[in-house]
Amino acid sequence: MPALDDTTRGRLLFGGDYNPEQWPEEVWLDDVRLMKKAGVNSVTLGVFSWARIEPRPGAREFDWLDRLMDLIHGNGIGVVLATPTASPPPWMGTLHPETLPRDEDGRIVWWGSRQQFAHSSPVYRRYAAALTEDLAARYGSHPALTLWHINNEYCTYDWGDEAARAFRGWLRAKYGTLEVLNEAWGTAFWSQRYDAWDEIIPPRRAQYMRNPTQVLDFKRFTSDALLECYLAERDIVNRHSPHIPVTTNFMPLWSGQDAWQWAEHEDVVSVDIYPDPRDPWAGQDNAMIGDLTRSQARGPWLVMEQAAGPVNFRGVNHPKPRGLNRLLSLQSVARGADGVCFFQWRASRQGAEKFHSGMLGHAGEEGRVFAEVKELGAELARLAPAVAGTRVTAEVAILHDWDSWWADQQEGRVSARLDHPEVVRAWHRALWEANTPTDFAHPEHDLSRYRLVLVPHLYLLTDTAVDNLLAYVAGGGTLVCGFHTGVADHDDRVRPGGMDARLRDLFGISVLHEWWPLEAEERVDCGAFYGTLWSEELTAADDAEVVAAYRGGELDGLPALLRRDRAWYFSTLPEPAALRALLTRVAHEAGVRPPPHGLPLGVEAVRRGELLFLLNHGRDAATVPLPGHYRDLLTGAAIQDVVSLGRYGVAVLEQAS
Ligand code: GLA
Repeated sequence: MPALDDTTRGRLLFGGDYNPEQWPEEVWLDDVRLMKKAGVNSVTLGVFSWARIEPRPGAREFDWLDRLMDLIHGNGIGVVLATPTASPPPWMGTLHPETLPRDEDGRIVWWGSRQQFAHSSPVYRRYAAALTEDLAARYGSHPALTLWHINNEYCTYDWGDEAARAFRGWLRAKYGTLEVLNEAWGTAFWSQRYDAWDEIIPPRRAQYMRNPTQVLDFKRFTSDALLECYLAERDIVNRHSPHIPVTTNFMPLWSGQDAWQWAEHEDVVSVDIYPDPRDPWAGQDNAMIGDLTRSQARGPWLVMEQAAGPVNFRGVNHPKPRGLNRLLSLQSVARGADGVCFFQWRASRQGAEKFHSGMLGHAGEEGRVFAEVKELGAELARLAPAVAGTRVTAEVAILHDWDSWWADQQEGRVSARLDHPEVVRAWHRALWEANTPTDFAHPEHDLSRYRLVLVPHLYLLTDTAVDNLLAYVAGGGTLVCGFHTGVADHDDRVRPGGMDARLRDLFGISVLHEWWPLEAEERVDCGAFYGTLWSEELTAADDAEVVAAYRGGELDGLPALLRRDRAWYFSTLPEPAALRALLTRVAHEAGVRPPPHGLPLGVEAVRRGELLFLLNHGRDAATVPLPGHYRDLLTGAAIQDVVSLGRYGVAVLEQAS
């Protein structure tokens, strides 16, 4: 099977989305000249080229793309070729209105922007397949081609009739009979019982709260329907070019796709990352997405898109201060990326993204951003021989699951303040600050290689996942589980006792009486620290150890944190410093390898293969004690016992023999 190595070929990929159809041909020559100057070795073509290739139904205009593929190849640059199926031309909606998706209110999502396709429309799928077929036949053996990029950020929802029909088919395949569906959805509640398949619709706008299992199944269905679109195109390109790997670019921690499942069907896992430069946690956000994507890839992965400067989709769009683009790019490499690419090569002069940065901004080659891009390109080329293909290993895993996240997003839950990704982020942050390398895993994955497994919060756990957690602890692993976990089964049915009985037993909880969610400004005193967001009224079993108890308030004296041997339960979210201290303590007990000593706050240390990356997330220079002799691969400098890092500075250190 083709893999990322077939794309990178020993290099770190560097380049970006290239949209030459927006420019006259003379600009193309300037583009390749500047690409070479910047060390670009890869461009992504075709992402939004559908209307250019097929200006009217069935037409094919490939000449311009032929010239481009040859031009790019002739300049020693590889092409990531996209199937342009994310943005159908206006003729499609005009001729075939059923290809347009509908929102929850039944309103049409019109053309004039992008991604206006009804994923389950046979007409859309037929046109997309025909175009993919011709594209793959024409370029599948072109020497420039290094990777297929299917569609772009699959993210559409559709509540229309095409989706309704497909949803019914999906439900029939899942449940077989209406009786089983009615049971799984709990339709005895509010007179929702279905008597015929045609009565079932997507969860459209309704009078009051909708059936949560119907909503959950609709999210599962949507992810599956989009995956079908991906697989259909993947199979076509595979047929024409079995030697070329295939990817589709994920959005970071995006709720619409079960990325664990999708990643199984990709040769290369890639993601688009846009941390806000003003966010003091941008570095952690970038690290977390890197850890998640590496875990999905089970090895090296790609940043398919990031911004060299500002984006234009936030309310206020801040540029990246000098050095930040380099820092975040090298951070992704440290966390296993074998390439950092951008949206987009040349900033557009027209269209909705004309104020989104490019590697080559409106300031052109004299601009600061381009100067920094050039430096980064040179540095990546320098690092590639020692870095490309090497691995990051972690002894800790954080569990994350889309099913549980979807179930959590329901109306009518205990607290609308409980935001699944925010809880995951808080736990990851604690490990990031402690410089403890972390993978992500699905709750049904084999966890035996980890010394420590963390479950920040998984509201829904299948029986198989519960078995897996029990087996993990029985096999010698240490487990820390956050609040409101294991509450629901696969159908979002609350488990007897409010939490899986075997888990309660594992942690030493005899009764879970009530959940006590907290308001934004509320904190609960837990003795040595404060808890936020959540608290629970629990009774501990006799042999459980109460590690911290609530003080004052309704829960006075009841356990906040408890453990039974190597299984810990946190019924609240400790404030950041406390969470960091607690997880550091548990990691130490679990025998997790400690980080290098004496790292100043804000300096991140990551090992990749034999190399140690040090990354300064601060604007002030930092000094890192590091006993021994090293060589910095970025500068070639010899380092002894101490490393100096400037503002946003990075060192990539190889131990000197
Ligand atoms: C996404 C898309 C790109 C572009 C960028 C802008 O990642 O894939 O086409 O719109 O966002 O940030």
